[in-house]
Amino acid sequence: MSLMSGITRTGLEWSSLDPASRDAAEIVAGWLTLLAESADRSGNTPPPCPVDMVGSLRFAPPDTELEDVVVRRDGRVVGALRLALPAGAPVIRVDQLLVHPVARRQGIGRALVAHAVGRLAEHGRTSLTATLSAPVPGGPVVDETPSAFAAAVGALSVAGEGTGLHQWLDLAEHDPLADGVPAVPPGYRLVTWGTVTPDEYAVAVSSLEQSLGGGPELPDEEIETSYARRFEKMRIGRGRRAYHTGVVHEASGKLAGYTSISKTTGNPEHALQGMTVVHATHRGHGLGRVIKLTNLDQARRAEPALRLLETANAAHNTPMIELNAAIGFRPDTHWIPHHLTP
Ligand code: ACO
Repeated sequence: MSLMSGITRTGLEWSSLDPASRDAAEIVAGWLTLLAESADRSGNTPPPCPVDMVGSLRFAPPDTELEDVVVRRDGRVVGALRLALPAGAPVIRVDQLLVHPVARRQGIGRALVAHAVGRLAEHGRTSLTATLSAPVPGGPVVDETPSAFAAAVGALSVAGEGTGLHQWLDLAEHDPLADGVPAVPPGYRLVTWGTVTPDEYAVAVSSLEQSLGGGPELPDEEIETSYARRFEKMRIGRGRRAYHTGVVHEASGKLAGYTSISKTTGNPEHALQGMTVVHATHRGHGLGRVIKLTNLDQARRAEPALRLLETANAAHNTPMIELNAAIGFRPDTHWIPHHLTP
């Protein structure tokens, strides 16, 4: 990295957030303090889990490189920027852009964006992308600061195909398991597993996830190098644990779909309803609902404090959003992609 350490004319000291660097312990501690003190605690949002965040410095998502930078003023970490570089994409994704509440409206946010823009040329990429929240009808009020800031730095909203719908399920308000777990349709059987995918399903899980259950079968990879294995490595490195339920088509013996709930080491009440996918040839039998509810049952037994599940889907994915609504998920916010092309 270029400018990665040094005090600028504005009195800001820039450092790469590199866990292998000499003063890593002090910088990482300052970064964690920044995250805790700046955390958005509106609605159901949990505080950042320190184990998860520290783990994220060493374990990036598959096929993605992360660059983390912090800025200090008078020795205190007052800003942080995480850039994600998906392999082969023309963009850099801004995954974190944060300024401490006591240091806002002093140009630090703009300085972080200028740094990100500089990294575009360095990596031969053309645009920055970021996701911002927007209100949904009947949903909570959304802080307008990020949108005002994005507009001020020249980022454009590109609502459309890429828009997501963020949803929450509060089990204290609605228990979708009150009537028990639904029956499995004839011709199928369920399998459950935890954080580590059994060898026999690792390639099928990778293929289902990457094709989202449609299109041609992907060629088998070595299990060790499969997407599922690389994703798992990141999850374990971040101290997360997971619960999975899959459905096997008995006639073919193939995995027809699966669903995943994961959670961080901290925040015992919170979990993430992650990927749910049923292969196109097995849709229309209610399998999505069966695997989601069976998996929720499994996760709840193992995590008795579990109360709040969040999930997100493409806003145009009506079948999954309707299924979520039937389970009790409520729309929270839209996630709108923004682009900045200098
Ligand atoms: N209301 C209206 N406009 C604002 C506000 C606000 N609260 N905050 C910033 N702006 C606009 C203004 O035009 C401002 O220029 P001005 O102060 O000369 O009027 C301009 O943005 C630049 O402001 P900075 O001082 O550079 O921004 P700051 O250091 O305060 O950081 C940030 C802004 C990062 C959004 C901060 O408020 C924050 O950390 N919020 C929580 C995290 C967050 O929402 N991050 C998402 C950022 S958006 C993205 O990722 C593209």
